[in-house]
Amino acid sequence: MTLTELLEMDLKFILVGGKGGVGKTSVASSLAISLAKNGKRVLIISTDPAHSVSDSFDLDFSSGEIEKVKGVKGELYALEINPEKAGDEISKVIGKPMDSSDFSNLTNIPGLSELQGLGQDMQSLPQPGMDEALSFAKILEYADDDSYDTIILDTAPTGHTLRLLNIPEFLDSFLGRMLKMRSFLSNAMTMMKSLFGAKGEKDNTIENLEIMKEKVLIARDQLMDQDRTQFVKVMIPTMMSIFETERLVEELDSHSIAHEFVVVNMINPDNPDCQYCSHRHKEHLKNIKYIESVFGKDNITSVDAFDREIRGIKMLKFFADKLL
Ligand SMILES: Nc1ncnc2c1ncn2[C@@H]1O[C@H](COP(=O)(O)OP(=O)(O)OP(=O)(O)O)[C@@H](O)[C@H]1O
Ligand SMILES: [Mg+2]
Repeated sequence: MTLTELLEMDLKFILVGGKGGVGKTSVASSLAISLAKNGKRVLIISTDPAHSVSDSFDLDFSSGEIEKVKGVKGELYALEINPEKAGDEISKVIGKPMDSSDFSNLTNIPGLSELQGLGQDMQSLPQPGMDEALSFAKILEYADDDSYDTIILDTAPTGHTLRLLNIPEFLDSFLGRMLKMRSFLSNAMTMMKSLFGAKGEKDNTIENLEIMKEKVLIARDQLMDQDRTQFVKVMIPTMMSIFETERLVEELDSHSIAHEFVVVNMINPDNPDCQYCSHRHKEHLKNIKYIESVFGKDNITSVDAFDREIRGIKMLKFFADKLL
């Protein structure tokens, strides 16, 4: 099996992740171009706060809106999430400035953290940052929506991605608590109203919370369905990158996210006339043996380090040919 089979899998979500600088964005962009060429309607979303999908395509997707990618065959769209813009919109709704780097504001609503159990629950989970929350909001938006056949997520280096993966559990717990609290308040209000005969408008908060919780579960189920979601592990043949990927695999397994594809990128080609090159080449071959022993069950795709940067649509198409 190669990455070609990944493209034939009819996936809703393809997450591309790994250590910093290993080629995640290049792989994500090339896969997006190839899928669009195969007739799929594709959206590539950067969930990395240090966006580089624009740089990779050598185009500008920084508006915070979905943009059609020009110069590729088929229907390819790109989105770089803009936390500042989204933070402003949320602030308009909740009426106070939102710190774009901190989602833990949610657990600091006055009076809320005093509620027994909530604080403990929240503290036991790594709290997502605003960037991860916004990325998950996109997953929620498209999980039960067919506007795009496939969503490719170009993720940030491992730490951010792990926080993104924790969001469904975080939200499920948070919304569950909110629902319990809300139904207690709602019952208390109904009692007060019946006692004092007050008339009020129908309160839809519980229904809204229940709809949101349902959506979170739909998104979580999609992420956990190996026929709908695959996480592509990108690494370079250095032990540091391999060890980080091994730790990532443990996390992916603990969240039941399928990850059957590995890309080993930037393998140094041999060159007997260059001592540096042949040393690196030998070291890489040795590390690839280790990769094969650890990730032997996966579909491993190996790609050389090229003598120029993978940037712009022409280079991305070249890279896609090598990957596929
Ligand atoms: N096989 C390759 N040969 C040569 N250059 C490559 C190769 N793969 C990627 N590059 C280049 O290496 C750099 C890093 O690649 P890329 O941005 O795709 O990595 P990344 O994992 O997304 O990085 P970050 O962690 O910063 O998001 C880019 O300049 C890219 O063009
Ligand atoms: Mg990147």
